[in-house]
Amino acid sequence: MASAIAIAGLATAEAVALRTQDVPTVTFTRDIAPIVFTSCAPCHRRGGPGPFSLTTYDEVRRRATQVAEVTRSRFMPPWKVEPGVGHYLDQHPLTGPQLALIETWARTGAPRGNPQDLPRLPDWPDGWLLGKPDLIVRPSQAFSLQAQPTDAFRIFAIKVPLSKRTYVRGIEFHPGNARVVHHANIRIDRTPATRLLDEADPLPGYDGLMPRSAEYPEGHFLGWTPGQVAPLVSPELAWPLEPNSDIVVQLHMQPSGAVEQVLPEIGFYFSDRPPSRTPTILRLGSQGIDIPPGESRYVIRDAYTLPVDAQLLAIQPHAHYRAREIRGVADLPDGTSRLVMHIKDWDFRWQHVYREVTPIRLPKGTRLSMEYTYDNSAANARNPQLPPARVFWGQRSKDEMGDLWFQLLAGNDRDRELLTAQITTKMTAEDIIGYETMLKVDPRDAELHDDVALLYLGLGQAADAVRHFQASAALKPELAAAHFNLGTVLAQAGRLDDAVVAFRAALDRRPGYALAHNNLGRVLLAQGRTGDALKHLQEAVRLDGANPQALFGLAEAYAAVGSYDLAVETIDRALKLPMPEALAQQVLVKREQYLRRRPPGLLIELSSAAP
Ligand code: HEC
Repeated sequence: MASAIAIAGLATAEAVALRTQDVPTVTFTRDIAPIVFTSCAPCHRRGGPGPFSLTTYDEVRRRATQVAEVTRSRFMPPWKVEPGVGHYLDQHPLTGPQLALIETWARTGAPRGNPQDLPRLPDWPDGWLLGKPDLIVRPSQAFSLQAQPTDAFRIFAIKVPLSKRTYVRGIEFHPGNARVVHHANIRIDRTPATRLLDEADPLPGYDGLMPRSAEYPEGHFLGWTPGQVAPLVSPELAWPLEPNSDIVVQLHMQPSGAVEQVLPEIGFYFSDRPPSRTPTILRLGSQGIDIPPGESRYVIRDAYTLPVDAQLLAIQPHAHYRAREIRGVADLPDGTSRLVMHIKDWDFRWQHVYREVTPIRLPKGTRLSMEYTYDNSAANARNPQLPPARVFWGQRSKDEMGDLWFQLLAGNDRDRELLTAQITTKMTAEDIIGYETMLKVDPRDAELHDDVALLYLGLGQAADAVRHFQASAALKPELAAAHFNLGTVLAQAGRLDDAVVAFRAALDRRPGYALAHNNLGRVLLAQGRTGDALKHLQEAVRLDGANPQALFGLAEAYAAVGSYDLAVETIDRALKLPMPEALAQQVLVKREQYLRRRPPGLLIELSSAAP
């Protein structure tokens, strides 16, 4: 602490003058530099994510008042969680005495002090903070961010250049232009969906939504906010990265006023062995958000009770611009309640993953809950639409979202499977609400109808799937696949006559549609219309002899008309094709029955929907 005694030995005129007035002096070199170099300069330095440097006396003095303001208000260093809630990695709040020093220093003219007191500015390695990565990936070309007035979002699909499954302990993200990149969402897509969207846009990356197939790797968060580098996880918790998948990077950028080149890079750190444990990710939230214009206190809530013991490893809130307050609570079975997340002044620009220093034990029966409050009035300075408009749930930044993600670690594999299965069902049900919300906004989007129909099917709700495939077929009556999908779910819902009509509609539009012949043949067989069934199944095999399902269907049709020899011959043909082991077993049983000339029992599965 500064005092007249402490500066008594200084020879500078300034110090002497202060001593004579007996005013305690706070100096940059002795008191302020240690704080700024540790808590601010990691971001506020050349090449860092902060908008200006705070690494020399002149740089800090010039902004002394502003520095005092942003530290007093706790706007800087950026940390949105209320003090006292949780204990997280990378959390370095300034202490009360530190705040007082900054305040006094700014108020007393920001004196320099004795140059000999100045601590050394830390070294920040230019390269990788986690060490040399095992793999570095980047988009093939930089994106040119134009000098536009509004924030920009861009999604890149970067191919994983691996030839075999590899286990990952962590990543380090480099924004490639710290001046404009404000945060990054990172996912893995094991399907070509994101790549196709990226390729369809002539510029690097694309502007739009991430497909559903772009996901967190099982059990792990990926993402980046300025200054955040998640430490490597232990090898027991590493996650698999598959060849032929894509790393999906969504950048949120704030244009600088000039054209900027942006080329992000991701370094991967591998593990030499497969993991022994996998965390589970729980998402609480609401996808039914529908906020009237002007509403200043719109609240969403959600909760889930743990069926097994688990540890809470990390937590990540997500919302867009209108969210104000964010709360997450764990109510333990012993009656105690613990605030696990609380942000009073949510800021969309700080999408942070909060990793617990020590995992929190959550016994079976713990109720995890979230409550978010939104302000869609004109009084909310962050409201992106003025005058305020009705806002729905959606992934675009002008829509709203409200998720609280928990990374949980169950005690053993059995518990994990139970937890994961329950959570998947819960999250699918909420995803469905999200699709229904988007369809409220855009009821004529056939792809949304197709997607949500498949989700309903996953939950075994065939009647709802039928409703949406009907809507999709009505919107795209010329599309054979739409009628095929509808027929398939009608058959699964037991509506065989309607299914026949739908399959015939598909075949009217595409006579060479092998799967439609196959499924129609199956349904006719189930209806006992064996002659007609045989005709369609023969056609299905003629069109695509490499589909074992079609061959089995045909075998059943042969058996149904009493041609057991042909049935066995057809099955043997099918058994030469690659197929899942379980299916092969099922078919071998049938083969036995046909050899003994038993009447067939229906039915092997229909070929599934293919929008
Ligand atoms: C984790 C990185 C990081 C750290 C640490 C950090 N800043 Fe910042 N700071 C930023 C970023 C990024 C911005 C740009 C504003 C924004 O995007 O919200 C910023 C903005 C500012 C601003 C401008 C505020 C405004 O209203 O425009 C000041 C002043 C500031 N920081 C001071 C500090 C001080 C003082 C410290 C240390 C006590 C500090 N910062 C620590 C990243 C950081």
